[in-house]
Amino acid sequence: MRILITGGAGYIGSHTLLEILGEKHDVCVIDNYSNSSPVALERVAKLTNSNFVKVAADVCDERALNNVFEDFKPEAVIHFAGLKAVGESAAVPLKYYEHNVQGTIALLKAMEASGCDRIVFSSSATVYGEPVYLPYDEDHPCAPTNPYGRTKYFVEEILKDWAHSNDRNSVVLLRYFNPVGAHSSGRIGEDPDDIPNNLMPFVSQVAVGRRSKLQVFGNDYDTPDGTGLRDYIHVVDLARAHVAAVDYVAKNRGVDAFNIGTGKGATVLEVVKAFEAASGREIPYSFGPRRAGDIAASIADPAKARKMLNWQAKHSLKDMCESSWEWQSGNPNGYRSD
Ligand SMILES: NC(=O)c1ccc[n+]([C@@H]2O[C@H](COP(=O)([O-])OP(=O)(O)OC[C@H]3O[C@@H](n4cnc5c(N)ncnc54)[C@H](O)[C@@H]3O)[C@@H](O)[C@H]2O)c1
Repeated sequence: MRILITGGAGYIGSHTLLEILGEKHDVCVIDNYSNSSPVALERVAKLTNSNFVKVAADVCDERALNNVFEDFKPEAVIHFAGLKAVGESAAVPLKYYEHNVQGTIALLKAMEASGCDRIVFSSSATVYGEPVYLPYDEDHPCAPTNPYGRTKYFVEEILKDWAHSNDRNSVVLLRYFNPVGAHSSGRIGEDPDDIPNNLMPFVSQVAVGRRSKLQVFGNDYDTPDGTGLRDYIHVVDLARAHVAAVDYVAKNRGVDAFNIGTGKGATVLEVVKAFEAASGREIPYSFGPRRAGDIAASIADPAKARKMLNWQAKHSLKDMCESSWEWQSGNPNGYRSD
């Protein structure tokens, strides 16, 4: 199939691009590099020994999108492009609504104009909000607690309306839990520009000496050791979920949401311990207060994805930490190491 990948230079996008190219699909990547580097695309091209089209443009730019659809004629879209920092989304919500919501509407309009009717969307477990029960299944009520989560929720609703507006349309909403790790080559990985918002890149930057210690937000949660518990998913498993989702939108119509997680949780201290074992480095840490908006635990029920997408996570927490370390130690300054 001809597949357009928006945000394909980013962390999850680059890993998915690699897997999609491995399936011999034709690909066009559109990215404005606002949170990524074109070096990631060069490295994927080398690793896969394949060519693909690259367009440097913003998904809010309707004219650029129409040109891409006219030239490349995608048959399906995987839509990663967007902003993802929860804290920043509270400070500048309009920027988040513009990139995440407006960007998706522009994309859907360009799809309609060219007759492209299949889309896989990067949603998030943040759409669920405070758990009413755990593990979350896809029928859990959605009540996101921050502007970022609300952009994902609103886009899901827009995509549902769009799916129902024409019986040819096909939409898959992938609700990611906590993606971590890197490709086994150590050549692509997560490369936050700023202070990392997520645990694993922070821990790996402490291990490599870029930061002095980890601040653990809260040790009085109702979890086995008091620290926050999350369902970490290896980014390569997540990338493979997109391969399955592309196959699914090609064969099915309508709209479906799927949790993409392992169904198992690890606490912050368990991740620190696993990372110390993987890296052979000590991770100094101290406890601080809880972070506003954080919940005690988040775990996926991934049964629906197993049944309907025929997809299942394969990698362990050990694999996640080892591959993160391989990437971080080989590229201490991320893609700027080149
Ligand atoms: N990483 C996570 O923990 C996580 C969890 C759940 C959902 N998601 C979602 O998955 C998607 C990918 O996340 P990621 O971790 O790879 O983030 P990322 O920032 O590494 O990747 C996003 C990519 O989109 C590009 N981009 C952003 N706005 C754009 C725009 N307006 N036009 C064109 N390109 C644009 C960025 O330059 C970047 O390459 C995002 O939509 C994110 O919200 C991520």
